[in-house]
Amino acid sequence: MEPIALLKDKRIVLGVTGSIAVYKAIDLASKLTQAGALVDVMMTEAAQQFVTPLAFQAVTGRAVYTDMWASADSALPTHIAHVALGEGADLLVIAPMTANSIAKLAQGLADDLLSVTALAARCPLVFAPAMDGGMYSHPATQANITTLIERGATLIEPDEGRFASGLVGKGRLPDTPTLIGQIRRALARSGPLAGKRIVVTAGGTREPLDPVRYLTNRSSGKQGYAVAQAALDAGAEVVLISSASLQTPIGAQLVAVDTAQSLHDAVLEHSAGADALVMTAAVADYRPATQAQQKIKKSDGDLSLQLARNPDILLAVKEMAQRPKAVVGFAAESENLLANAQDKLVRKGLDLLVANDISATDAGFASDYNRVTLLGRDGSQTAIDRSSKSAIAEVIVEHLSSLIVKGSA
Ligand code: CTP
Repeated sequence: MEPIALLKDKRIVLGVTGSIAVYKAIDLASKLTQAGALVDVMMTEAAQQFVTPLAFQAVTGRAVYTDMWASADSALPTHIAHVALGEGADLLVIAPMTANSIAKLAQGLADDLLSVTALAARCPLVFAPAMDGGMYSHPATQANITTLIERGATLIEPDEGRFASGLVGKGRLPDTPTLIGQIRRALARSGPLAGKRIVVTAGGTREPLDPVRYLTNRSSGKQGYAVAQAALDAGAEVVLISSASLQTPIGAQLVAVDTAQSLHDAVLEHSAGADALVMTAAVADYRPATQAQQKIKKSDGDLSLQLARNPDILLAVKEMAQRPKAVVGFAAESENLLANAQDKLVRKGLDLLVANDISATDAGFASDYNRVTLLGRDGSQTAIDRSSKSAIAEVIVEHLSSLIVKGSA
């Protein structure tokens, strides 16, 4: 698991309760720790029937709390465990959370470390119910969940599927990436882009030739998805317009497109009045002039293709009445990187341009790494040496934040 800037040194108190899904919480605690968070686990007595505190201690490298009467570790703010755990925590996550624990919290009962801590804590609460059979849909459980939500807690909806009992229904703990995605959303709520709407495009467009063939390019969409995730981590509401088939970051609204024309239409629709548009997509400049209705059959001679120009989306955005407040473009160049990029910045009316040398073999297309230079409208230049696409996305989003929040690059 790669480090996640948003999680670095965040204090997450992870409460685990007595569900068979508690084994999945070991993976969650491990991945959160690998991502950079400081994870303090507290276990109910029932949770310890399924796994031992040692399992959590091994993956977090920190003390695990089980006893309401024991003193807290000296690394925590006070010696009283239930106060110490909640005090200074950035987030309280209860996963898996049984029907009994949900009922206790809804009623404000405080008879074990987890319930006392939940009452004492002042940080946001995220909870992931996990239970078998009809327990989740029972009106009592649903009423208790509603109570917690009304008090400001964030529900991670359980998945549907097969339970340990063999029954099928809704009540399974979601997988770790989903849990981490929701935890990121909760932590991002106070981020610099909270309340801002950012539109991000990603992937290479596909221009059909006939029903089975299309013209495309080597863009994977990874950099665009990383920008979408970084904007989400900064608290933004994100619309991701994409032709790639990658996992949509949790919290992003996906708009699926394929051709340059469909991307153009979606961008004009969704970016009107938005706070920013980040055009990471690799748009095909040309499409087959005609699209054959039937599969093109081969013949003995060569085949010539007539190509027609696609619209330039950023030029269309430049003319919009409700143009986004900040527009970021990318420049994929194989020669004269900075000169060509500077020309695109001016011609396309951009606030920021991310120049990408696609001749490099150790970064760029399809790779998890990139090497870019950011050019600002104000003449600023920031070179970023070979870094992960996530790290580059974070720098882009930082620049974006200063553009739309403070009004300067
Ligand atoms: N772009 C666009 N519409 C197009 C082509 C590109 O909006 N029809 C956007 C891309 O998403 C990118 C920026 O323009 O943010 C630069 O894309 P690039 O392919 O580098 O430049 P082109 O304008 O296509 O110029 P050239 O092919 O001459 O390099």
